[in-house]
Amino acid sequence: LHPDPTPTDALHDELLGLALEAARRAGELLRDGRPADLGVAATKTSPIDVVTEMDIASEKLITGFIGEARPDDGFLGEEGASTDGTSGIRWVIDPIDGTVNYLYGLPSWSVSIAAEQDGEAVVGVVAAPMRGETYQAVLGRGAFNNGERIRHRPAPPLSQALLGTGFGYLAERRAAQAEVVRTLLPQVRDIRRGGSAAIDLCDVACGRLDAYYERGLNPWDLAAGALIAREAGALTGGRPGEVASHELTLAASPALFAELQPLLDEVGAWHD
Ligand code: IPD
Ligand code: CA
Ligand code: CA
Ligand code: CA
Repeated sequence: LHPDPTPTDALHDELLGLALEAARRAGELLRDGRPADLGVAATKTSPIDVVTEMDIASEKLITGFIGEARPDDGFLGEEGASTDGTSGIRWVIDPIDGTVNYLYGLPSWSVSIAAEQDGEAVVGVVAAPMRGETYQAVLGRGAFNNGERIRHRPAPPLSQALLGTGFGYLAERRAAQAEVVRTLLPQVRDIRRGGSAAIDLCDVACGRLDAYYERGLNPWDLAAGALIAREAGALTGGRPGEVASHELTLAASPALFAELQPLLDEVGAWHD
């Protein structure tokens, strides 16, 4: 017997349903509608920080679909959506996470949609259409991949850990990030650079990576994936005592997190 859902549960169910449907539609548009001659529409913070017409089309689809159902909600999207709303709910959207992979026809890209309630992520959906996988989480209710419960992998020793990371678009930051890799690489099993932070976080959630760290993420890169990782039992954070942020994002199973966080702090993984 199920007790009646609380108003909060019902709200989270509604937000989850919208996020899943928006991510499904955007994923389909991106997978089936990718122009054969797709090019770079514009560059942003540096010449390698690119945006395509499909990033913009995907964000429009998502904000249009959700905005129609919930006109009082706020939006923060990588390609410019930015409204406060009045309902206490804000949607944080990365319309293509992994744009460079998408541009080159590599399969590792995703659509990332999170809903925040009074500033806290309560729903996260990451759709990875070329994997045929959709990850989802609701605060306090666990994490799922295509409806199957997922858990992080129990931590191996650091020397046998498979790490994921990513690099920002600014040359100076990349030089510092390369230094961190130089220090870490001899101490671990290997390091992957998948190209979609949201997928990296989901890979920690389902045990395909032991840990993931990156300097310089934006809210839309991490909002959904970090909730999914936490709901799969992993820890997320930044520098010691801090939450995952632009400065540093780390996700790992608890024992490995305890080992990696001071190490990343020591090597200055949060430095530019
Ligand atoms: C990027 C990807 C990449 C990460 C970069 C992000 P974008 O997002 O998540 O894996 O290393 O820091 O900016 O620009 O493809 O949405
Ligand atoms: Ca991104
Ligand atoms: Ca993006
Ligand atoms: Ca981008």
